[in-house]
Amino acid sequence: MSGPGLVITIDGPAGTGKSSVAHRLAQRLGLEFLDTGAMYRAAALLALEQELSPDGGPVLAAAVERTPPRFDWCSSPPRMMLGGRDVSERIREADVTGIVSRVAACLEVRRQMVVSQRAAAAAHPRLVTEGRDQGSVVFPDAPLRIYLDAAPHVRARRRAEQLRASGRPASEREILQGILERDRIDSGRSEGPLRVPVGAECVDTSELDLDGVVERLEALARARLGERLAVPAAASRP
Ligand code: DC
Repeated sequence: MSGPGLVITIDGPAGTGKSSVAHRLAQRLGLEFLDTGAMYRAAALLALEQELSPDGGPVLAAAVERTPPRFDWCSSPPRMMLGGRDVSERIREADVTGIVSRVAACLEVRRQMVVSQRAAAAAHPRLVTEGRDQGSVVFPDAPLRIYLDAAPHVRARRRAEQLRASGRPASEREILQGILERDRIDSGRSEGPLRVPVGAECVDTSELDLDGVVERLEALARARLGERLAVPAAASRP
């Protein structure tokens, strides 16, 4: 990224705790937080609501153009808004999760999202952004690029625990199958596939809890970015 911005990217597969980790890291470092998976999920919700094929790139992109997903940056973490509605919870439901990888494989949709993500970073230049292609495609010259990973069975167990904690039934075996299928689609697509960005710091979270991961990343960020993390004088004035 050029200019005075400070972007930290966090990529990795589903179930590595990326969103929670990225949000907590952003809070600790005094940065804002961008959940790019939520943008693809909002596009998937549009497909469901408008009965569009999740594989129909140009048609879906036109729908996204008409009703672009936007974040409400006044909340922390920012809420996902679609056509004036808060869909932050709705986009986590199983029907959206079931098709979102297909939506995210559409070239036309990805290109729109990349433009929106760069615009978000221009408006919110001190940012932790998480997704699958943030360090490899969207912000390849971000000063700190992180890749989080964990063994598939650990990722499935975490997802199951999350679902059960929110009162929803969860079969770990089915979740594991879903995770492996999403990994396959996310890594195999031609545009912005899930991969380790060149020069990224790789952290395996299989043996770490959330706090352990956040601490590890905070230490990495402070060591790498040092004074750049200090709030700029202009931003700290009343
Ligand atoms: O992180 P998540 O589960 O909310 O992501 C939802 C889907 O969007 C998942 O299939 C991966 C995809 N995605 C992507 O392709 N690129 C991103 N930058 C973020 C998410």
